[in-house]
Amino acid sequence: MLQPRFVGAVVILWLLSWTPMAESAIGVNWGTISFRRLKPSGVVNLLKDNKIPKVKLFEVEPDILKALKGSGIQIMVGIPNEMLSLLGSSPSAADLWVSQNVTSYIGKGGADIRYIAVGNEPFLTSYNGQFQNLVMPAILNLQQSLVKANLAGYVKLVVPCNADAYEASLPSQGTFRPELTQIITQLVQFLNANGSPFVVNIYPFLSLYDNGDFPQDYAFFEGTTHPVTDGTNVYTNAFDGNYDTLVAALNKIGYGQMPIVIGEIGWPSDGAIGANITAARVFNQGLIKHIMSNKGTPLRPGAAPMDVYIFSLLDEGAKSTLPGNFERHWGIFSFDGQAKYPLNLGLGNKELKNAKNVEYLPSRWCIANPSTDLTNVANHMRIACSVADCTTLNYGGSCNEIGEKGNISYAFNSYYQLQMQDSRSCDFDGLGMVTFLDPSVGDCRFLVGVTDKGSNSSSSETAIHWYVLVLFFTIQSMLSFSV
Ligand SMILES: *[C@@H]1O[C@H](CO)[C@@H](O)[C@H](O)[C@H]1NC(C)=O
Ligand SMILES: *[C@@H]1O[C@H](CO)[C@@H](O)[C@H](O)[C@H]1NC(C)=O
Ligand SMILES: *[C@@H]1O[C@H](CO)[C@@H](O)[C@H](O)[C@H]1NC(C)=O
Ligand SMILES: *[C@@H]1O[C@H](CO)[C@@H](O)[C@H](O)[C@H]1NC(C)=O
Repeated sequence: MLQPRFVGAVVILWLLSWTPMAESAIGVNWGTISFRRLKPSGVVNLLKDNKIPKVKLFEVEPDILKALKGSGIQIMVGIPNEMLSLLGSSPSAADLWVSQNVTSYIGKGGADIRYIAVGNEPFLTSYNGQFQNLVMPAILNLQQSLVKANLAGYVKLVVPCNADAYEASLPSQGTFRPELTQIITQLVQFLNANGSPFVVNIYPFLSLYDNGDFPQDYAFFEGTTHPVTDGTNVYTNAFDGNYDTLVAALNKIGYGQMPIVIGEIGWPSDGAIGANITAARVFNQGLIKHIMSNKGTPLRPGAAPMDVYIFSLLDEGAKSTLPGNFERHWGIFSFDGQAKYPLNLGLGNKELKNAKNVEYLPSRWCIANPSTDLTNVANHMRIACSVADCTTLNYGGSCNEIGEKGNISYAFNSYYQLQMQDSRSCDFDGLGMVTFLDPSVGDCRFLVGVTDKGSNSSSSETAIHWYVLVLFFTIQSMLSFSV
């Protein structure tokens, strides 16, 4: 039965739906820490085919910005934390940054840069405050540079924060961490004065991964056996609870109405218990439905976040596994731009569309030679996996149960593909051999590499989920194969 206040909310919702501001957009994070990257133009076509209107980049990469020119896709570009010190201490460095990394791309037929992310999660607890005081000086200099470049009305500065910037046992009690209160108050005053949103990254997966007692169904959007009751409000999913904790924290510093953008959110599909295709699909689809419903949260009913950037577009096989083996498997697409599961992004297509014209290496794989004695293989495996990606072999991964020989073959193949199928890279002192029969078993996919003609820039994206690092340092598998 509809209660009057819900009817009211529906009417307001209906009214809001006529104003473009009320519509949240779904975007994606496009990270590039991969051994073999798809051509930027191919990825831009992938974005366009999937009608994805917004993209978030961790750095300005010239080949990517060039490929985005004229695409109509709105862009958030990031500045690495390591640059904050320079940009905060030198107005001319900030001018130069803006002219080289924004002004030169923007304009008619250019790249539509809308946001600059100043640092990436600079207040993260595990950074021990090292970037904390560098944020505001960098922001103030960059803002002056934007003003000088006549771009301040169009390009907005933001600071993506990790959800560890605030805390509470119940959402309504949310506060920023005491040591951050002053700095975040200054930041929020700045954002408010300049029409910028507050950007936050929220990861229910990591809450689940971090904490064995975390009720699994609370991470998703399908109802829970463990709702959180907060006064008259009842929370049935971790996202709403986390979001409202931020709303309460903003309210406490006097900015309860501050627009919020979700800079990163997603679910990995491999590399850990709880990271699998089904869970990733259920989480991401549930999230998108929830956002698109405009139901909002108990503290912001009828108002979804401004924008939501899914983490992530593509798997990144060269990311550090310090946070966990799942770190290389956040993509809604695999590294080669193929959809991992059906997903309706709410942007017009019912399902994801795959990347087209991907240039694969020939269909061949490197496996363990079945007719040789493999007792001396351990060292080869260790080396192969220290360079190439073997994370799916670990406990909870999609290739964990393919047996000892399977393990060896998987490692050999990963290395071989990484070496662009150079025949010498399948030698392993005579233990390896090339096959033309796909050795994939069940869900365990033996990859074929892609050629990476046309992409040569290197990147140092720092979007590793560092805050689980401390907790999980000890259990981190260093790929110690005991074959
Ligand atoms: C790398 O890419 C840039 C920009 O796309 C290009 O100008 C340069 O020639 C490329 N370098 C190599 C070694 O391919
Ligand atoms: C532009 O951004 C790139 C990538 O972050 C950085 O390496 C470069 O130094 C920046 N340019 C300037 C002039 O600061
Ligand atoms: C996938 O992960 C979910 C939770 O994240 C878990 O409940 C489920 O059992 C997992 N499925 C498989 C096949 O491992
Ligand atoms: C394969 O390798 C993984 C990762 O090291 C390990 O957990 C698993 O036990 C191995 N399987 C066999 C049969 O050795």
